[in-house]
Amino acid sequence: MNTDRTLNVAVAGATGAVGIQMISCLEERNFPVKSIRLLASGRSKGRKLTFRGREIAVEELKETSFKGIDIALFSAGGGTSEKFAPFAANDGCIVVDNSSAWRMDPEVPLVVPEVNPHAIAQFRNKGIIANPNCSTIQMVVPLNPLHKTYGIRRIVVSTYQAVSGTGKKAIDELDLQTRAILNFKAFESKVYPHTIAFNCLPHIDVFLANGYTKEEMKMVHETRKILEDDSIGVTATTVRVPVFYGHSESINIETKTKAAASDVRALLEKTTGVKVVDDPENNIYPLAIDAAGQDFTLVGRIRDDESIENGINMWVVADNIRKGAATNAVQIAEILAKEYIGV
Ligand code: A2P
Repeated sequence: MNTDRTLNVAVAGATGAVGIQMISCLEERNFPVKSIRLLASGRSKGRKLTFRGREIAVEELKETSFKGIDIALFSAGGGTSEKFAPFAANDGCIVVDNSSAWRMDPEVPLVVPEVNPHAIAQFRNKGIIANPNCSTIQMVVPLNPLHKTYGIRRIVVSTYQAVSGTGKKAIDELDLQTRAILNFKAFESKVYPHTIAFNCLPHIDVFLANGYTKEEMKMVHETRKILEDDSIGVTATTVRVPVFYGHSESINIETKTKAAASDVRALLEKTTGVKVVDDPENNIYPLAIDAAGQDFTLVGRIRDDESIENGINMWVVADNIRKGAATNAVQIAEILAKEYIGV
């Protein structure tokens, strides 16, 4: 039991789109921070970031960076997590990792606090907890109560994902390309293989041998792991769209027992973390610009799929940097602190 009631925290990838939001979430949610260490690549060494009104210099991430740290939030890419998380765990620090490096390791829990908080206990295996993919998080938050109540047989999902999911360079690329096109100026595509401004790219992460992208297969495997049911059929098409913040998803589910749209709406209205935004007659439905900057998963356009016996369609939107990454990681850290470290 920690009697001090505050913790030494580190953020690895502190200068990135998610890292900066992690720092804000720790502050906003009043996480019990005693000290905070901000880590990034050598390029950012000495750069100042602010936490609780104090400027803190960024340090270079090293194998020894985690001595004396209780919890580290990682969002510095898969390779960095793969290399450095074991050093952190070896020094007694618990890692909450936002990359895909550890998600499918059977010894590492993959957690969405509203869905499977009990899995956090498995952090003891390797000292690592994985934060799921942003698109998966916002899908399982509303689908979990439906699976528990009606049993989900199959999920067909198409995503419309914001550029912030790729990181800061992609936010800059959409910004620069949009201005260039509107001003008839020349521009380059450095982050994506094609122009992202005024376009939609059916390509997120690398293509695999089965013709799907890695992002699409993450949605398949992670959904089954979090919902603890390998029998659920999942098929995904993931698309990058010229939106800065907020992923949108068209989700079709087939359930084992009949779920009418009105039942689904009623169930989701009392689901933690979900806000039902569903009044189409008044042009009210979830929008990326409304989801951005807050932590609810917005669900609307809930309707019966009239092409099958037990089908439902819905439109689900969340802030990919907050609930899809930083907020989810900090929520995990809160449960760790309260229920496992005793702070
Ligand atoms: P840096 O800013 O010094 O490059 P984003 O996803 O927005 O691109 O952010 C990625 C984050 O991961 C940044 O904080 C970046 O630091 C950090 N990062 C990338 N590569 C490394 C590395 N090899 N070691 C430590 N931090 C890294």
